[in-house]
Amino acid sequence: MEIDGTVDADESIVVNLNQTRLQRLCEHFRKRKLIWTIVLIILIVAIIVNPIVIVTMNKGKREKTSTIQITTVEIITATAAHITTEKIAAATAGKPEQITTTEKTTQIATEKTTQIATETTATEELIPLVIINEDTKWKQSATTVAGGNKRGDGLNQLKQPLGIYVDEDSESIYIADTDNNRIVRWKFGAKNGTIVAGGNGQGDNIDQLRSPTDIVLNKEKTSLIICDSYNKRVIRWSLQNSQSKEILISDISCWGLAIHNNGDLYISDYKKHQIRRLQQGDKEATIVVGYHGQGNQLNQLNEPMYIFVDKNHSIYVADCANNRVMKWMKNAFEGTLVAPGKASGESLNSLKEPIGVIVDHVGNIYVSNSYAFQIKRWSPGAKEGVPVVGEEKIESDGPTELSHPYDLSFDRQGNLYVLSYGTNRLQKFVIDVD
Ligand SMILES: *[C@@H]1O[C@H](CO)[C@@H](O)[C@H](O)[C@H]1NC(C)=O
Ligand SMILES: *[C@@H]1O[C@H](CO)[C@@H](O)[C@H](O)[C@H]1NC(C)=O
Repeated sequence: MEIDGTVDADESIVVNLNQTRLQRLCEHFRKRKLIWTIVLIILIVAIIVNPIVIVTMNKGKREKTSTIQITTVEIITATAAHITTEKIAAATAGKPEQITTTEKTTQIATEKTTQIATETTATEELIPLVIINEDTKWKQSATTVAGGNKRGDGLNQLKQPLGIYVDEDSESIYIADTDNNRIVRWKFGAKNGTIVAGGNGQGDNIDQLRSPTDIVLNKEKTSLIICDSYNKRVIRWSLQNSQSKEILISDISCWGLAIHNNGDLYISDYKKHQIRRLQQGDKEATIVVGYHGQGNQLNQLNEPMYIFVDKNHSIYVADCANNRVMKWMKNAFEGTLVAPGKASGESLNSLKEPIGVIVDHVGNIYVSNSYAFQIKRWSPGAKEGVPVVGEEKIESDGPTELSHPYDLSFDRQGNLYVLSYGTNRLQKFVIDVD
């Protein structure tokens, strides 16, 4: 009972409490309603005002952008600057053409900027971003970045490798692992390579290679282009579809390949003593150097090996049996001697059988020759070649030594890669920035 009474009293309290709570809640909601209405009004006002603000701001922005682009034009070309002057004149006069002129100028500016960007990309692909000149040095002690585990066909080994191609985009180095009849890709820093072409025994089936000597990637970087030397063919091998392979050129004793950033492919033929070019879309490769057969005249070659093509389509050729390096400008009737130095008293033996050649920003050439165990640099007009790596001239497998250095390449940082055929390894000489 007592319990009941207590319960009753308590219930009434609860009810009372509940009633006041309800009232408070109602009040609260009423206040909230008011707040919401105010917020809503603010929102509506904001929605109306906002576009006006944005439009005004955009106007300001647009004007700013135009000014920047116009300034760029002024710097880029005199012609564009001329148009700008016209535009400014028009603006001052307040003519109606004002807007169209601005649009035109902006368009030109954009076009020019795009052009410059494209040119920069093109340069990146061929020569390093770091400016290399005759003062550049490399650390004499190299690290082995592929192979170096004796001669063999394991994935951590190479067997008499000849050609390399460094691809910064995929952070990989492609190697023509010649005596293993395969192309391997080594990711930067990897302990092992992976087979990306061949490796199916020696033969001439479409999925086989026979002593490949060089590789490049096509312009789109979707396919490998392989100089399948002993099969006397250049083949395109898709990296995306293992079934897609195609013979690009047959009956060619190819040795070296080079690709221009526009997609043109250059090939050396060491038995016909020629350089040929396959332009994108062409069915046949045309002869660009070597109409005059084997010989040592300026318009002849004798067993051309690796080649390098610069931005201007000049071809540098390691003219092996002539013990010299030649430069052929686009559409030239004869080449010019770039190494050994013309005016030097160097005997021809100073460049015995050059094999590999690459070129830096200022036209210095870097040459490997099988018998010197070092890489030498010839500056334009220099009398003599200067050794840059392998200075000791010792044929061995130490970190400062090279054995039959063949193909070579820079990366974008200016590091120098040299393939050491005799010791079955790829050596990386880091650029010395001190
Ligand atoms: C690397 O290659 C060697 C030799 O083919 C093999 O024994 C080893 O398992 C490979 N290592 C890796 C991580 O694939
Ligand atoms: C390319 O040609 C231009 C103009 O003739 C010249 O200034 C430039 O030095 C050349 N570049 C190379 C890499 O030869």
